[in-house]
Amino acid sequence: MACGLKAVKSLNDLKLDFPALAQSVNGRMVAYLDSAASAQKPKCVIDAMTSVMTDHYANVHRGIYTFSSKTSVAFEDSRRKVARFLNAKSDEEIVFTRNSTEAINLVASGIGQSLKAGDEIILTELEHHANIVPWYFLKEQKGVVLRVVPMKVDRSLDMSAFEKLLSSKTKFVAVTQMSNALGTIVPVADIVRKAHAVGAKVLVDGSQAVVHLDVDVQEIGCDFYVFTGHKLYGPTGIGVLYGRTDALNELPPYQGGGEMIDKVSFEKITFKEPPARFEAGTPAIVEAIGLGAAIDYLGGLDTEAIHEHEQMLLREAESRFVVVSGVTVFSTAPERAAILSFSIDKVHPHDVASVFDQLGIAVRAGNHCAQPAMKTLGVQATVRASFAFYNTMDDVERLMEGVYKVKKLFL
Ligand code: ALA
Repeated sequence: MACGLKAVKSLNDLKLDFPALAQSVNGRMVAYLDSAASAQKPKCVIDAMTSVMTDHYANVHRGIYTFSSKTSVAFEDSRRKVARFLNAKSDEEIVFTRNSTEAINLVASGIGQSLKAGDEIILTELEHHANIVPWYFLKEQKGVVLRVVPMKVDRSLDMSAFEKLLSSKTKFVAVTQMSNALGTIVPVADIVRKAHAVGAKVLVDGSQAVVHLDVDVQEIGCDFYVFTGHKLYGPTGIGVLYGRTDALNELPPYQGGGEMIDKVSFEKITFKEPPARFEAGTPAIVEAIGLGAAIDYLGGLDTEAIHEHEQMLLREAESRFVVVSGVTVFSTAPERAAILSFSIDKVHPHDVASVFDQLGIAVRAGNHCAQPAMKTLGVQATVRASFAFYNTMDDVERLMEGVYKVKKLFL
């Protein structure tokens, strides 16, 4: 059955749509609690990708024959689905990239061309490395100054510190909408309003938020918004850069190659308008179509109900953790979603994850590509359990089973 066309199922039945969740690990049905790293794929996404390759695969925008036009239509349909999903004003505001990382690099390298030494870029302590390193390059190359908004003791973003950092020197703000390490939700619409008031542009990293919140880029008002397909139940290798038309138009080309040009000679080259200007070479055709299928799948679900379900699982797990001695929970911001970052006294997070794996429980342990956040927490690493709508109370029970097993083995 195609994505999005099924009857609405009970939340517990949704797990059945994800073939990998029926697999056993070390003799137990997998308890997959690492969707923040990469989400599982519903069968209809897998089918949609297989179907392109078996039924009418060809390159897009290049072939004057049926296979190519069918595939091109499916590819551009996906762009339209993404535009609707984000409530962009037009399909042309959607650029397909490899992932969020590439989308941020594309913007940083373009913006960087017009920056000069002393210009300021504001980041936050909650950022993933993908939203730090591309801006650090500009510090190295152009002498721009990186200003960093700290998190508060409760692990929410310090908005008054943000306001103090804003000035006429601020040219750009790059901020996550939801921390991948802690689950903290950031008030990005407020940030955009305040940044625009000093003339700065804003990029929002929605890699986590797009999965757990209703995102409306017009409501947020940001200049750029990025996310990646594989966390949104789609395939790897496909990401999205949303850019408001005027913001995209101001960006120079990123990579050069086929399909992004208008005319080429050795004397002069002219470029296409966005989004083609930023999509050099053969794109990730099958993956883009897979992402469209994932969005169709989500469109067939009651979004409010699935987000409430994720919150219920998070709160339930948190309430169980409170009564366990020797456990520290780091995800404590008043506004948070889907992520429980914790440690168990005297046990390295990697050891915790290994014991969990013996019980068929998948979590991420490490710095979560967020070393500045870890430094503020005063740790090298945490264990992170992350919830998706396909998780159930049984997965919460399994998580607790893992915690008690670690305590029994190590403490
Ligand atoms: N960014 C991904 C994570 O948070 C990989 O785990």
